[in-house]
Amino acid sequence: MKALVLAGGSGTRLRPLTHSSAKQLVPVANKPVLFYGLESIAEAGITEVGLIVNPEAQEIRAAVGDGERFSLNVTYLVQEAPLGLAHAVRVARDFLGDDDFVMYLGDNFVVSGITDLVDAFRAERPDAGILLTKVSDPTAFGVAELNTEGHVVALEEKPAHPRSDLALVGVYLFTPAVHEAVAAITPSARGELEITDALQWLIDHGRTVRSTHITGYWKDTGNASDMLEVNRSVLDTLAARVEGTVDAASELIGPVVVEAGAMVIRSRVEGPVAIGAGTVVQDSRIGPHTSIGPACTVADSSIRYSIVLNNARIEGAGPLCSCLIGRYATVAPAATAPHCLILGDHSEVWLSP
Ligand code: DAU
Repeated sequence: MKALVLAGGSGTRLRPLTHSSAKQLVPVANKPVLFYGLESIAEAGITEVGLIVNPEAQEIRAAVGDGERFSLNVTYLVQEAPLGLAHAVRVARDFLGDDDFVMYLGDNFVVSGITDLVDAFRAERPDAGILLTKVSDPTAFGVAELNTEGHVVALEEKPAHPRSDLALVGVYLFTPAVHEAVAAITPSARGELEITDALQWLIDHGRTVRSTHITGYWKDTGNASDMLEVNRSVLDTLAARVEGTVDAASELIGPVVVEAGAMVIRSRVEGPVAIGAGTVVQDSRIGPHTSIGPACTVADSSIRYSIVLNNARIEGAGPLCSCLIGRYATVAPAATAPHCLILGDHSEVWLSP
């Protein structure tokens, strides 16, 4: 069995972070979302991975490399334009050959991994397997309609009037039967070859599409608060580990990770908190539920329930709460009024009166 991981496309929903970085590399508990997917694939016993990327995907190539760090063998498959998930399957036709495969959307996060699902698929081998989860806003997803026996009868991509609240999760299991389907379908109204249409084609042609319900799922449907929430739930599983230095005047409470080269000086860190490699935390209060990326400086500040990306500088600021702070960003007080802000496109700043 192979894996096809989709890391092409363009990330508009996580702006401004995705102006400068691929959405699949947005960090959750200091690790790119894409890495969780790759780890789940390796855990499921799959080694051959085709990674769909844009023509300019240097950042993803640099982060994933040849896949060895995940015990995977990664082949890059360039998709010239984001023409849809089923188009990506067409692009991967030669790589996939006649093997079964799991298709994993690189911006999706399945908390419980995929091992059980892959094992069940291998054992039963329906033509295709999909995962469903209840969501509050089905219009943002592919939506499945089940009959009274629980079989999938219809699928619709981002319907204006959803027929259920069961969304398609971005993990699909396929036999080579899918290639006939993706070759047969035509672009949707939004101009993409939809994988939901390929699945519908399979159903309409008497093939078996098995569905499994899961909980513990996240995707970037939109906003910072979704992201902070998933960060929070992943941090809840954190095991304490200190590889950097913590001075005697500091206090670590609960699960705190201090990566190699990081320094915690005269600070109180209330876990779960992840502090990235080379970051300096000084005279500050951090946490709970906060991840600070690598090479950051946090001094004379207080921050909780937040995500800070690499190389950010937070000095003399706080209390900060529920913040998403991008790479190389600076948060510091002005010596005198008025406030001076230099904000990237689509940034948001909430100032207290
Ligand atoms: O996340 C689950 C949803 O994913 C499903 O419920 C939908 O049925 C499915 O169509 C898909 O919806 P999105 O419109 O949200 O997919 P998105 O454009 O965000 O792309 C998902 C991933 O695939 C993302 O990592 C980018 C990548 N991608 C996307 C397209 C359209 C590609 O690599 N190539 C593409 O052509």
